[in-house]
Amino acid sequence: MTKKIGFFVGSLRKGSYNRAVAEAMAKLFPADLVTEFVDLSKLEMYNQDLDDKGKPTVAWTAFRTQVQDLDGVVFVTPEYNRSVPAVLKNALDVGSRPYGESVWDGKPGLVVSVSPGAVGGFGANHHLRQSLVFLNVPTLQQPEAYIGNITNLLNEDGTIVEGTVSFLQSIVDAYVAFFKKNSQ
Ligand code: FNR
Repeated sequence: MTKKIGFFVGSLRKGSYNRAVAEAMAKLFPADLVTEFVDLSKLEMYNQDLDDKGKPTVAWTAFRTQVQDLDGVVFVTPEYNRSVPAVLKNALDVGSRPYGESVWDGKPGLVVSVSPGAVGGFGANHHLRQSLVFLNVPTLQQPEAYIGNITNLLNEDGTIVEGTVSFLQSIVDAYVAFFKKNSQ
């Protein structure tokens, strides 16, 4: 059966640089892996009361079902105040519950951070990895992907410059090899 890789973008902004990078990356996957984007914009903030009452929201249930069906997970995220944007952290939390039913468990992961700043979202990248350790998402360690100064890496039409696409291809290739070794 064809394996499916889900993309999670930590920005809801229409002109998001992270989304542009994620979209460019999705095109670099080999044909034997299907890629799909998971919409985080409809997820209400996590509230354990709803799970305790057995009444998760419609959006939480749809999200959990979609992620459960994925074989691998790719996170492309900005850094907000040196950490993970709330929208992405909320998605991790929603998918991790009810207790013992996490939909993340064992799915090989990739973390890419993108910023107009020089540090390339290092803080978000590593805070995200901290949660992924607990969620038992085996995550590609090398090469690391901190895409800094993103505004200098775009063509006039908003597409990513060739050198960066080559870098992204090397990240995708390493992830695909890692995914094939670690997927269940
Ligand atoms: C930011 N930004 C930012 N950038 C960074 O490199 N380190 C940081 O800690 C922060 N903090 C931060 C907080 C908040 C609340 C916002 C809205 C923004 C700037 C951020 O990198 C920039 O807005 C990017 O363009 C966001 O990514 P998208 O939306 O283009 O994908």
